[in-house]
Amino acid sequence: MDTIPIMRPWLPSFETLAPMLREVVENGLITNGKYVRLFEERVAAYLGVRNCVAVSSGTLALTIAMGMLELTGEVIMPSFTFTATAHAAIWNKLDVVLVDIDPETFNINPDLIEKLISPRTSALVAVHMFGNPCDVDRLAEIANKHKLRLIYDSAHALGSHYRAKPLAGFGNVEIFSLSPTKIVTSAEGGLIATNDDALAERCRLARNQGVHADYDCSLLGTNARMSELHGILGLGSMDIIDAAVEKKNVLVGYYRKQLEAHPGIRLQRLLDSTVRSTYKDFNIIIDANIFGMNRDGVAQVLAARGIATKKYYSPPVHRQSFYRTRTQCYDVALPVTDFVSSNTLTLPLFPEMTFAEVDRVCQAVAAAGEHVG
Ligand SMILES: Cc1ncc(COP(=O)(O)O)c(C=O)c1O
Repeated sequence: MDTIPIMRPWLPSFETLAPMLREVVENGLITNGKYVRLFEERVAAYLGVRNCVAVSSGTLALTIAMGMLELTGEVIMPSFTFTATAHAAIWNKLDVVLVDIDPETFNINPDLIEKLISPRTSALVAVHMFGNPCDVDRLAEIANKHKLRLIYDSAHALGSHYRAKPLAGFGNVEIFSLSPTKIVTSAEGGLIATNDDALAERCRLARNQGVHADYDCSLLGTNARMSELHGILGLGSMDIIDAAVEKKNVLVGYYRKQLEAHPGIRLQRLLDSTVRSTYKDFNIIIDANIFGMNRDGVAQVLAARGIATKKYYSPPVHRQSFYRTRTQCYDVALPVTDFVSSNTLTLPLFPEMTFAEVDRVCQAVAAAGEHVG
């Protein structure tokens, strides 16, 4: 029996990359050359933003963006996210204040933010979870009212739509991840997107140690440069972005018909009917009392049938060893985050998945509900 992986990157064909790879290998310009610039321009045009700065990871994109915004004091963010969101703040010596999520969209709950704002709060960080757009209008309202910076961790959302257009240009800055689980991948990499030209310029400097052409350093930077080899892969990946997101959405529609028939199983709800999600991950939430088996049991049944699953994001940030010792995160009441993170199961989803593979996963979930191992 073949194993169904949790995901498989859908990459551009080698033939489309080969001429560009040959060129840089033969001319020796394997970093600081033209392809990273072309990739940045291509993404900026796709997103409709003025600036796009490519760096070596999504984590560094976030760390640099926060640093170049010169944030101070506290930043408010969800605990239901990948550790990198919080790490970027800690590397910038910021205090992390965690807020609960909406039980249906799994995104930051705007109704809970204002009571966490203190005189020390400098920014809100929102995550478009699994590619599902946050309520960007509400978040902008709150950030404007309290004069806070608004940062979008859009690690999952390159390819998502909001009001039928690419989800971009919101807040002060957005960052994207280009690791292999993302629709657009450069193997490893990240992007900083912003309409603030001065901020983009500082981020550009910061990715290269903060040094100018004369080697004078004017700000605290690091080495976060993207190589030409990574830039070429990213550029090629942009050719298939929309086809990949569309394929995933068709598969989710097919999954939905079968899975929603089971009492006790529900899917992440999208913000509204104008949005498109990348479905970076496809999650089901299992109510064990109704379904008859809990998330961990279902994962075991699927594993025994050769189906890989993940538990994104479990444990959430406030339950992780490092963050449990940090006072701002310690013992916070985040009941929805706790419920969602202990009851969601990530099922396989990737653009080249077949309907027969989706059927196999759904049959395994049904067997779990009937307690058939
Ligand atoms: C929500 C979120 N933020 C940030 C990152 C960091 O991105 P990278 O792995 O490219 O450093 C990730 C990675 O997947 C993520 O899921």
